Amino acid sequence: MPVQDPVLRNDWIAACRAADVQERPVQVTVLGERVVVYRNAEGVHTFKDLCIHRGAALSLGCVRDGNLVCPYHAWEYDSSGACVKIPQLPPGQPIPGKARALPYACEERYGFIWINLGNNRPDAIPLPEFADASFRNVIWGPQQVEAKPPRIIENFLDVGHLAFVHEGYLGVSTHPEIGDYRVLKDGNGIRSEEISIFQPDPDGSGQAKHVYYTYEILSPLSVKFTKRDRETENLMSILLTVLPVDAASSIAFGVMSFNYETGMADEEIVRFQDMIFAQDKPIVENQKPEDLPLDLQVELSLRCDRVSIAYRQFLAERGVTLGTA
Ligand code: FES
Ligand code: CO
Repeated sequence: MPVQDPVLRNDWIAACRAADVQERPVQVTVLGERVVVYRNAEGVHTFKDLCIHRGAALSLGCVRDGNLVCPYHAWEYDSSGACVKIPQLPPGQPIPGKARALPYACEERYGFIWINLGNNRPDAIPLPEFADASFRNVIWGPQQVEAKPPRIIENFLDVGHLAFVHEGYLGVSTHPEIGDYRVLKDGNGIRSEEISIFQPDPDGSGQAKHVYYTYEILSPLSVKFTKRDRETENLMSILLTVLPVDAASSIAFGVMSFNYETGMADEEIVRFQDMIFAQDKPIVENQKPEDLPLDLQVELSLRCDRVSIAYRQFLAERGVTLGTA
């Protein structure tokens, strides 16, 4: 069942990792809609995962000479979605003009395939670290979550839980206080001032210290934080982007960027992030209501929840409906 959310349907949504789309077509579900993603020499293409002939899933087919071939009767579709071959037709009989696959706008960026179900091409979210040679970028995810995107994203923006849910890793329960900070909204978007967080070992050197987090809201489904060590100027950022699979479940992806030597292989970095995410998951999957309340009179916020409040206001202004109430 397609999920009706005009705002999200007209925004870029990270559908899958670019590395997972090689010679074989891939099926993803975006807002309840089955989509086939495939690659040919021209790049990556996305269609509704439905053959107009008898409703077969095109993602079960293959790519031959750059065309997507339906698994059922081998009709072939080119990159524009036009059917260019119907093997059953006798010679001389033309291919019906209606024989088309339905393309969606897509883009390969930041290690993911982004799709726009409304066939719009809004500006991509910024991720300057990705093109900056002084940063190492590590792709994280997919992580399946039985929750709606706004709860998952707000958890990522939540400063107060670090000392408890991630005790010993991202915070310590003897230092739970969050100093005051503001959220700035200007031409550069929405971001928090630096928030001081005491961490047991922020950079793997074994030394506990204060580090400074800046949170940014980039789109309804994409947010980021940057962690700065004021002594070393080490920077670590994580972009979180969440795919709404259907009305109830999501897939989280991330890009982790470092401007310093972590002493860890990519797999170790991913494993650490998986472990951190596994600590958040039961919290997020069990929050009630499942929909993030956008009415600020519902639930009780503290001053330290200002980033979360800014996110709720952002969703309300945009008119996002999926996963909000
Ligand atoms: Fe696709 Fe027949 S269903 S070719
Ligand atoms: Co967390």
